[in-house]
Amino acid sequence: MEVKTSLLDNMIGVGDMVLIEPLSEDAFIENLKKRFDHNEIYTYIGSVVISMNPYKSLPIYTAEKVEEYRNRNFYELSPHIYALADESYRSLRDQDKDQCILITGESGAGKTEASKFVMSYVAAVCGKGQEVNKVKEQLLQSNPVLEAFGNAKTVRNDNSSRFGKYMDIEFDFKGDPLGGVISNYLLEKSRVVKQPRGERNFHIFYQLLSGASDDTLKKLKLDRDFSKYNYLSLDSATVNGLDDAGSFRTVRNAMQIVGFMEDEVQSILELVAAVLKLGNIEFKPESRCNGYDESRVKDKNDLKEMCELLGIDQSVLERAFSYRTVEAKMEKMSTTLNVAQAYYARDALAKNLYSRLFSWLVNRINESIKAQTKTHKKVMGVLDIYGFEIFEDNSFEQFIINYCNEKLQQIFIELTLREEQEEYVREGIEWTNIEYFNNAIICDLIENNKNGILAMLDEECLRPGTVTDETFLDKLNTVCAEHQHFESRQSKNSKFLTDHSLPHNCFRIQHYAGKVLYRVEGFVDKNNDLLYRDLSQAMYKAKHGLIKVLFPEGNPAKVNLKRPPTAGFQFKASVGTLMKNLLTKNPNYIRCIKPNDKKAAHIFTDSLVCHQVRYLGLMENVRVRRAGYAFRQAYEPCLERYKMLCKQTWPHWKGPARKGVEVLLTDLQVPAEEFAYGRSKIFIRNPRMLFSLEEKRRQCLENLATLIQKIYRGWKCRTHFLLMKKSQVVVAAWYRRFAQQKKYQNIRSSALVFQSFIRGWKARKLLRELKHKKRCEKAVSTISAYWHGTQARRELKSLKEEARRKHSVAVIWAYWLGLKVRREYRKFFRADAGKKIYAFTIQRIMQKYFLGLKKTMPSMSPVDKSWPARPYGFLDRTHQELRRIFHLWRCKKYRSQFTEEKKATYKEKLAASELFKDKKALYPSSVGQPFKGDYVEITKNPKYQKLNSFVEDKVLLADMVSKINRANGKGAPRVFLLTKKSLFLADLKTGQVKASVPLPDLSSVSVSTQNDGFFALKIKEGSTSAAKGDFLLSSDRLIEIITKLHCIGATSADKKQLKVDISDEFLVQFKQDKVCVKFIQGTPKNGNGVACKRKNNRLLEVSVPSP
Ligand SMILES: Nc1ncnc2c1ncn2[C@@H]1O[C@H](COP(=O)(O)OP(=O)(O)O)[C@@H](O)[C@H]1O
Ligand SMILES: [Mg+2]
Repeated sequence: MEVKTSLLDNMIGVGDMVLIEPLSEDAFIENLKKRFDHNEIYTYIGSVVISMNPYKSLPIYTAEKVEEYRNRNFYELSPHIYALADESYRSLRDQDKDQCILITGESGAGKTEASKFVMSYVAAVCGKGQEVNKVKEQLLQSNPVLEAFGNAKTVRNDNSSRFGKYMDIEFDFKGDPLGGVISNYLLEKSRVVKQPRGERNFHIFYQLLSGASDDTLKKLKLDRDFSKYNYLSLDSATVNGLDDAGSFRTVRNAMQIVGFMEDEVQSILELVAAVLKLGNIEFKPESRCNGYDESRVKDKNDLKEMCELLGIDQSVLERAFSYRTVEAKMEKMSTTLNVAQAYYARDALAKNLYSRLFSWLVNRINESIKAQTKTHKKVMGVLDIYGFEIFEDNSFEQFIINYCNEKLQQIFIELTLREEQEEYVREGIEWTNIEYFNNAIICDLIENNKNGILAMLDEECLRPGTVTDETFLDKLNTVCAEHQHFESRQSKNSKFLTDHSLPHNCFRIQHYAGKVLYRVEGFVDKNNDLLYRDLSQAMYKAKHGLIKVLFPEGNPAKVNLKRPPTAGFQFKASVGTLMKNLLTKNPNYIRCIKPNDKKAAHIFTDSLVCHQVRYLGLMENVRVRRAGYAFRQAYEPCLERYKMLCKQTWPHWKGPARKGVEVLLTDLQVPAEEFAYGRSKIFIRNPRMLFSLEEKRRQCLENLATLIQKIYRGWKCRTHFLLMKKSQVVVAAWYRRFAQQKKYQNIRSSALVFQSFIRGWKARKLLRELKHKKRCEKAVSTISAYWHGTQARRELKSLKEEARRKHSVAVIWAYWLGLKVRREYRKFFRADAGKKIYAFTIQRIMQKYFLGLKKTMPSMSPVDKSWPARPYGFLDRTHQELRRIFHLWRCKKYRSQFTEEKKATYKEKLAASELFKDKKALYPSSVGQPFKGDYVEITKNPKYQKLNSFVEDKVLLADMVSKINRANGKGAPRVFLLTKKSLFLADLKTGQVKASVPLPDLSSVSVSTQNDGFFALKIKEGSTSAAKGDFLLSSDRLIEIITKLHCIGATSADKKQLKVDISDEFLVQFKQDKVCVKFIQGTPKNGNGVACKRKNNRLLEVSVPSP
């Protein structure tokens, strides 16, 4: 649905000044200020757009904005320049009405920007296509070119247009652009030679010097340094935010797009350079014999270069700066120029050169952008011209400009009223005469051909004799004195005689926008705009193509003695044409206002705005617009907007809109004089009434909003309730299902339990029955088995009996037979046959026995105890004997493999067995251990090196033993060494020999019968070693030690074999005392180890754990 909006929505202040209530200047300015503060820079007065310069970029010129305003009604959206551009373009396209957009305002108010916004909007919304786009591009690109040559930095505006511009854009019947025509007005050429403080010359000079390549500058004989040129003001040569070099590139590019040829561009730049050079030409006086001073060019270098640039004969130009030819009545007279005149001539030339170049440029652009077809064209004119100017010091230029504005105001009033009147007629509303100020009288004061100020000025300029600005003022004082709007001190009208605000050399005009005081100084000169003919002829003679064209009056063939038209005359003529042009078109106004003098955003200077509002005649504007009916609106949008105020029209009105509006207004009881019904619009006389409607609408909307809210809330709650209800049903259903499911599960599981119990009980019952049955069956079968068994045994018994009987019968039979046979055959046997048969049988049996034995012989291992079982009882002894023999033989075989060493070892083992077997409980554990002899590796261990060297003989045994302390029975470790001759006890750690005993000194060794390693070495009484007494030692390898000791005695012939006593109680000689060592079977309390304890002086008790 399209959103219906209105200008009246979200208004800040009022969007349309006609709605201001009460209408006063203060309220007007207050409204502008309020809107400006909210960045609403556009405000309407009816269809006129007031534009405030925001001095900052606002996001309101985007492509989206263009779309927003496209094809919308003027009052539909908030005020915008696009609304005006759209209205104007649509009216041109759809209603075939030529349009003009008149943009006025003082310098810096935003006119040029506004004109560009309008053009870019139209370019954006009009047709598209390659050709059309090219035209658009050329039209838009003409701007940078004209701005470079026609704009300058002033104190008011960094990019101030110093010329008036009117551009006609031409469209075809579809609204596609075809081309355009530009007219320029009144270039401020004085700027070329002199600029006010803080201002610059035209942009192009600076752009050329900073942007052109070195090569180009060389060709143009220019220097990049601004300070080298007299015509360039230096105090603001570079402007913040202006990139001259960049702009130069833009301008070159724009020129190319617009269609300038390369050589044309070159010519233009040469002319620009020539103007700069011209400014540098200086003059000096040279006295002549007639007493006058004559001017001479001071330094001819610049003159030379300029002449080279333009192809001018230097001497001709030089002469033209010194002499002036005056022609009168076919007579030629040459007068000399003094220095001041020479400077005047130079500047006049520069100004003319530049302004003519500018006009030529405009024409050249026109040539490029002119429409190519001759068919009917629709035209939209855009006028960007100075607004009213009221300075402290107003001169000829202000006079001309203000004249132009008077004319514009006049057509504004004329057209506005005409349009108003036309609308009233169109709408069938009675026309009431509108009171307004008609400024035609002021226009007449200026332009009247007979006694207008311009005519007076021309007259003065053309008059022979001395003409000065004062004579001109005198003339005015006589001719215009009676005029209501003319004021002068010297006029006949005595009322200003004492007016000190009016100086003597000034006159004052009461313009429609206020009084302006003009100083007459310079009026005549500026109006004359004199260029000495010698100069124009010199220019014409130039070999430069462009410059020749610019000075056609220099052609000697067309010498025209008539003076060229004055500036005032020319301007009046061009304004006349412009006005005629504008009158044929539908006007659209943009009134630009600048909010402050500082070019600053956010500052709103009331006095400055008030001043502009006054001279733009905006109050007048509002008054005219409000004179009849202040506000009008088509019936449809009106009904749409206010239909909620009446029951019949709300919410839908079925009939025609007008009828609806009538019903509405009647219902609201609006007094009849407050409005009038037009054909398509309702006319509202007073804004108050509109606002009361708006207020009612606002209230009504509030009520409606509440109603909508109420209904919506109700609807929302109801839907929510319904949803809850529905959900509740769903939840309940689910819950019931769940409960039922659970109940069912319970029933089912209890049924299963029942079932299983019953089944179990049944099964057990069945099982019992089956078991009973089975037992019965088993009993039956057992009984039957027993019975069968008994039967079978009985039968077996009887059968056995029978068999025995049969056997005995058979034996008896056999014996009997045998007896019979023996008896029968005895006579046939020899007496020893029985013995032989017996011997044979025995032999056979033996043979069989031996052969069988051969096969079942056990292994050759001496420890294999197996032997085949004996087959016959009578072979018992033989069998045992054979076993013994075989074992001995097997052992012999085994022994025969022994080495000598092994033999010795086995001998020792044998000796051990003889000594200890069945005598000492420790013995069995020693059988499996081989007798290694050296357990401490005495030769290898470096610790015992010394000990080793001490012992001379071969060590037979070296082991660690404990020497039992006779005092307490505790053991101390010692190394025990045994050689063939002696035994040694040495310290374990140091290897130092503690005791050495030659073997012959030993008398005997005593050991216990038990499982301990204690042994006592007894020393022969009276021997050398007897001093210390006997040794009581303990060693795990007791068996080996004693066997070795015993064996040494066996080997040497001179020694006796050492006696070994085995007893659980023996005496040991400790020095003088004899101590009894007693071995007892230890109790488990004593633990597993062997414990030795001194019981008293004579008893050492050793408890040995029982095995
Ligand atoms: N609508 C706008 N938005 C932003 N800046 C603006 C607008 N109108 C004018 N300006 C600023 O003000 C300066 C003067 O505007 P310009 O159109 O050149 O003034 P005029 O032509 O009336 O002398 C511009 O250079 C620009 O910076
Ligand atoms: Mg401008």
